[in-house]
Parts: sequence; C-alpha cells; structure tokens
Amino acid sequence: MSNTTCRATDATTNHSSGHFLSTSDHSRARLEGIVERAIANAGERSQALAGRSVALLFFNSSLRTRSSFEVGVAQLGGSTSTLEVGGGVWNLESGDGVVMDADKPEHIVDAARVLSRYFDAICVRSFPGLKSLEDDLTDPVVSALAQNSSVPVINLESCLWHPCQAMADVMTIRQRFGRTDGVKVALAWTPHVKALPAAVPNSFAVAAAQFGCELTIVAPEGYDLPDPVTARLGGVRVSHDQSLLRDQDAVYAKSWGRLDRYGEAPAAELRDWILTPEKLGDAMFMHCMPLRRNVEVTDAVLESPNNAAYDEAENRLHVQKEILKELLVR
Ligand code: CP
Repeated sequence: MSNTTCRATDATTNHSSGHFLSTSDHSRARLEGIVERAIANAGERSQALAGRSVALLFFNSSLRTRSSFEVGVAQLGGSTSTLEVGGGVWNLESGDGVVMDADKPEHIVDAARVLSRYFDAICVRSFPGLKSLEDDLTDPVVSALAQNSSVPVINLESCLWHPCQAMADVMTIRQRFGRTDGVKVALAWTPHVKALPAAVPNSFAVAAAQFGCELTIVAPEGYDLPDPVTARLGGVRVSHDQSLLRDQDAVYAKSWGRLDRYGEAPAAELRDWILTPEKLGDAMFMHCMPLRRNVEVTDAVLESPNNAAYDEAENRLHVQKEILKELLVR
C-alpha cells in the first residue's frame, strides 16, 4: 500500500459511539449483534420506532439508500423526512470560518443544531468533492454534522466511509457462508468511466477485517486505499494479479480512483480489468451497486447464480433497521 502522507485529521475517530459514522468506531461484538439481529428479524414490521422521526439529508443522488431508509423506518412505525440539499433545502456550506457571500445561504453547523431540535436521528449522504484529497480526508460534512448534532448521526456515505453498506455486505457473507471468520474475500478493483470515491472499498475492507475475513486487495499498481484505511487493516495482502480471484470465496467488485492522480478517471487501457465469469470462477460476486454493466463486470456475471449484489441491496433494509434500533431504542 502507498504511504501517502496527509496532514488532515482522521475525521471519524473521535466521535461518540452514539453516532454511526464508520464501523471502526464500534466493537466487533456490537456490530455482530446488529448483523445477527438483522438476520433474525428480517422482514420485521413493528412499532419499535413509533413516534420517532428520522431526517435523511442528501447532498447526492441515491436509489438504495434513500429507498431502504424510507421503507425501513416506516416498517418500524417511524417517519422520515427526505431533505435534498439544493433541491428544496438550502444549499449548505461546510467550510470552517468561510465568509458566506457566495451561493450557499446556510452552514451545516447551524443546520445540524436546528435539525437536532426536530428529529431523533439525522442521516446524511455527502460524497467527496474529488478535488482535494487533503480536504476530502477530513470528511467535512459528516464531521461537522456529528460534532454539532445532539442526536445520533448515521453516515449514508461520506468522503471516507459507507458503513451501512459495509454492514449489509458482511451480513451477506454471514448468510452465504454461515460465518465470517476465515472467509476468503477479495476486494477487486474494476474499470470505470469516472473517478469514483473510495468510501465503499474503504468500508468493506475495514469491516471485512473487523469480522475476521481473510482479505486480499486486487488492484492495478497505484490504486491504493488511503492511510486512514490501511492503518485500520494492519497487514493486508495486496496483489496486482487478477488470477487470485478464482481462489476466493467471495469477490467484492468496486472501482476507485488513484490517490496520486486524485479525481482523474481511470486510464482507458485498464478496461481489461473488467470482471468476467472466467476470472471469478465459483466465487460469490459482490457489488454495492449502482454498477455499469459491461464496464465493471459483464452481463454474464450479473445473470449468474453467484451474483449476490441484489442480496446486499436487500440487506441494506434489514441491517439499517437494526442500526436505528441500536442507536435509538436499545
Ligand atoms: N449502494 C448504495 O449506496 O446505493 P445508492 O447510491 O443507490 O444509495
């Protein structure tokens, strides 16, 4: 892994465990309890969140996250308000000490304090700008929100982490193999037409390690994960050899950008890193979705019985209900 240096603070280590910002803020025992209850309670309809209101604050688009939170809270008798920043909700500034004379009329600090007066939890999605690695590593929006909210904050994907996705991913491994300890999983880089954030691979790598999986990262040279992630992994096997994928129990496919060419789309010559059934062998195929068919993986992979991506999407619903109960009513 690279030793990219960065002066930025790690934005996710000093928050109260009342928030859910990264799996690494929580013990394995606590996370396992959530996953086991998600498996046991899948499909629950109850009044566990009756009278509770949850804010869903979106700076970016979503299909799964938005739908699964809206449906999940309703299934537990609570209510959600989906707030689209810049689309009916004021554009929010997140910079420290900014003179707010441009196009953003409200600061995230003030929004956090106000929303805390209305809601029992605030969930937020805010992708990185992909312009400055140093800025993105501070995870400015989720960090400011967590520091200024008096109610639990749940990270719905930030610059650095996508913990709800990682919990659904681990749940999928646990369901398929009956355990997570010792399951051989590869995090496999895939081609893409755009530079993508690394929140999903970061979170999957950390959660897989927390749950005792045997993790290998398979990526082209230069496609390292950032220091806040590698520091949490300890020793991890990194390879540039896709032939290793056939030896895995599960292969988690995802594209992410280079740290040393931050924000640049992957080179076109890496298109042959596309995943095919031949490269995967019998491994369970995993992906957070959305995905670009026939760029990241072939149609044949997605139509194969080894494809677990739809199970992962479904598990978002089950595991997030347990995360909400853990933070709000347990
Ligand atoms: N995996 C995931 O977070 O999907 P959405 O971006 O559609 O929410």
